[in-house]
Amino acid sequence: MLDYTRLYSKLAKSIKASEIRELLAIISRRKDVISLAGGVPDPELFPREKLAEISKYVIEYHGNIALQYSETKGVPEARDTICKFLSKTKSIKCSEDEVVISTGSQSALDLIARVFIDEGDIVVSENPSYLAAIGAFKNAGARFIGIPIDDDGMKTSELEEKLRKISPDERRRIKFIYTIPIAQNPSGVSLSRDRKKHLLEIASTYDLLIVEDDPYSFLVFEEGVDKTPLKAMDQEARVIYIGTVSKILAPGLRIGWIVAPDDSARRIELVKQYVDLHTSTLTQLITAEAIKRGVVDEVVSKAVPRYRSKRDTMLKAIRDYFPDCTWHSKPVGGMFIFAYVYKQGFDTGALLQKAIEKYKVAYVPGGGFHVDGTGRNSMRLSFSYPSHEQITSGIERIGKLIKEA
Ligand SMILES: Cc1ncc(COP(=O)(O)O)c(C=O)c1O
Repeated sequence: MLDYTRLYSKLAKSIKASEIRELLAIISRRKDVISLAGGVPDPELFPREKLAEISKYVIEYHGNIALQYSETKGVPEARDTICKFLSKTKSIKCSEDEVVISTGSQSALDLIARVFIDEGDIVVSENPSYLAAIGAFKNAGARFIGIPIDDDGMKTSELEEKLRKISPDERRRIKFIYTIPIAQNPSGVSLSRDRKKHLLEIASTYDLLIVEDDPYSFLVFEEGVDKTPLKAMDQEARVIYIGTVSKILAPGLRIGWIVAPDDSARRIELVKQYVDLHTSTLTQLITAEAIKRGVVDEVVSKAVPRYRSKRDTMLKAIRDYFPDCTWHSKPVGGMFIFAYVYKQGFDTGALLQKAIEKYKVAYVPGGGFHVDGTGRNSMRLSFSYPSHEQITSGIERIGKLIKEA
């Protein structure tokens, strides 16, 4: 028998399974379990008929392009559509040359990691932050500086404090600040306008790059929340912006994008060549056509009230069923609530099996969202996919689990 383990790379030997993906795999086979785990869109929002019509049109009328290999950075027409879409909806001004279309925004994170991070480099991020971004940066060898969050997002004053204190050598190893400023994953909180300005000022003072991940700014539920991306406020070309249609059209299309200034778009393109040649030409063209026909606007106008009411159901259930020893975020948008349980030794990772087997409910343990090894007492709860009844029942079950532990 060939000893495969002897052959694996350091990465393959050290890589740990993503808790979310493992869970989703288990839960997709377990119809008896209520899942508050993955950040999965409500399938009722998928514009099936429109996408069927558009797919047929794209293949029939543009089949020679749609079914063919295409440029690594994306089909020019699709990049142009994305630039116009970002200009119209987000006030982001970009040229087609600055856009690289990626296979979902997850691959955008991986490409950015490959382009910028060497072993031992530092990424600054919110703490907690998006688990799979942390994973992508770690795979590239990154260390982290975590900045705590509150209801107004990353505490930029703490960021400033940390940057002031670390040695110039360490500071030079910082490759970028990774942030999800609007309706963050996993907490749903947003960076206030003042903090956005402060973050850009700090980046300018310390000459830092910002990587802005923005899957949720279309899904903001509250009036008065500042929805302007950092990229639209950036006067110094120091923000790389990542977007996706996963939460506003369909994740199965696997279409995301990077808007990267200067030479960095070209570097990303060069690295991408050897990763996947290019993202699916077919779904690039379907996505571009869907954007042009206003399908995204239609999905968003239905998604916002739908997710808002599910969030409200979850908040009420938490108030009703969680004991006093818990704290939870108050999301202004997105798909998640993040909760901490303040009980000696409470470990959401260790309790997950019991949650699934005894209480028939699943959440994502919060440890993986923390960059400093803390957060074992936390969990991410998603309200986007389950029904109102499932949300209420799922939270009631987790409440029992917490009380029993
Ligand atoms: C903050 C954030 N970034 C990136 C992604 C990856 O999304 P996708 O690859 O589907 O675009 C997600 C998915 O949940 C996310 O929450």
